[in-house]
Amino acid sequence: MAYKVAVFAGDGIGTEVIAEALEVLKVVEKRFSLAFTCEKALAGGCSIDAHGVALTDSALRVANESDAVLLGAVGGPKWDDPKSTVRPEQAILGLRKELSLFANLRPIQVSRHLINSSTLKPEVLQGVDLIVVRELTGGVYYGKPSERRMGASGREAVDTIFYTEGEVARLMRASFELARKRRKKLTSVDKANIMATSRMWREVSHEVAKEYPDVQYEDVLVDAMAMHLIRRPKDFDVIAAENMFGDILTDEASMLAGSMGLLPSASLGEGKKGLYEPIHGTAPDIAGQNKANPLAAILSTALMLRMSFDQEQAAQAIEKAVDDVLASGYRTGDIAQPECRLVSCTEMGKLVREQLQKQ
Ligand SMILES: NC(=O)c1ccc[n+]([C@@H]2O[C@H](COP(=O)([O-])OP(=O)(O)OC[C@H]3O[C@@H](n4cnc5c(N)ncnc54)[C@H](O)[C@@H]3O)[C@@H](O)[C@H]2O)c1
Repeated sequence: MAYKVAVFAGDGIGTEVIAEALEVLKVVEKRFSLAFTCEKALAGGCSIDAHGVALTDSALRVANESDAVLLGAVGGPKWDDPKSTVRPEQAILGLRKELSLFANLRPIQVSRHLINSSTLKPEVLQGVDLIVVRELTGGVYYGKPSERRMGASGREAVDTIFYTEGEVARLMRASFELARKRRKKLTSVDKANIMATSRMWREVSHEVAKEYPDVQYEDVLVDAMAMHLIRRPKDFDVIAAENMFGDILTDEASMLAGSMGLLPSASLGEGKKGLYEPIHGTAPDIAGQNKANPLAAILSTALMLRMSFDQEQAAQAIEKAVDDVLASGYRTGDIAQPECRLVSCTEMGKLVREQLQKQ
């Protein structure tokens, strides 16, 4: 089988971790008789430097013509001027919009090899296997008005949360479908005691739930969810949330796994095409030093193989290779423990490839 992958390495450690992910794909290509045509394009700060915009039309065309998109991360202090109208994150928003990606999936599993390096107790983490489905195209990130202005008593600012029932229903259907393939439990997060959008979210979710009587469904208020996630994370299977609640909860949930450098994500729409990226940013504090953990980017390729290409065997092979490397005690700085063997970004990538070849 042959697949076209659009590759946006982006800025900072994005370029370092995507380089390792692409090397892993080369090994997968040989082992599983697949063919990947990887076309690279600029997105984010590097595109602003080269073309004056975060994403050009030709870069969008590369994404449009691909079967899946692999992205590193964009942004950094160089492009951080708050007054600038051209900003690196416009690239990600542009790609999501162009490809109609409305559901961001973030699976969180706690590796048994890393359980002791977490700030949480091992007995809380043992067996955690959940996935957060975050709505990606609505809510406060897109609602209008969103502005500052001068009012009668001085500075004022306003943001708007807006959702249509269609946006809620498609996100909930995607979440129910996912729950059906897993442990058949879905938790919907809202703030229905306060917000009108949340009350509609809950109403529509209950309507959709009737189509999935085999899935156990519950509503949880977002403030309580923040607490439950660190008190009893293993009770959750699929968690569905609107854009901002999902954004905050996924960063909280990432700490269950120990580091952002371990967690992949998938952004999906109605079809098979998806955008796959590590959940972390460009890490300017370690960029260019060969210190980044490439595992989140490598595991993002596993998600791509599973969700966009239906290559489950290849996806599992990558996940097993990562697990084997961690079992052997190799760690990048972000997950280092006293007794471990500290390795660089490129060394970690090479170790995963070697495991993949050995299997
Ligand atoms: N999807 C994206 O492109 C995306 C997401 C988040 C942040 N950003 C951008 O990245 C820049 C930095 O943001 P930030 O510092 O808030 O978040 P960040 O995720 O880049 O870094 C947070 C901390 O985690 C560490 N870290 C992150 N990924 C790591 C990895 N793979 N290996 C080892 N350590 C890792 C960093 O060194 C840093 O200490 C900003 O410009 C921000 O806008 C981009």
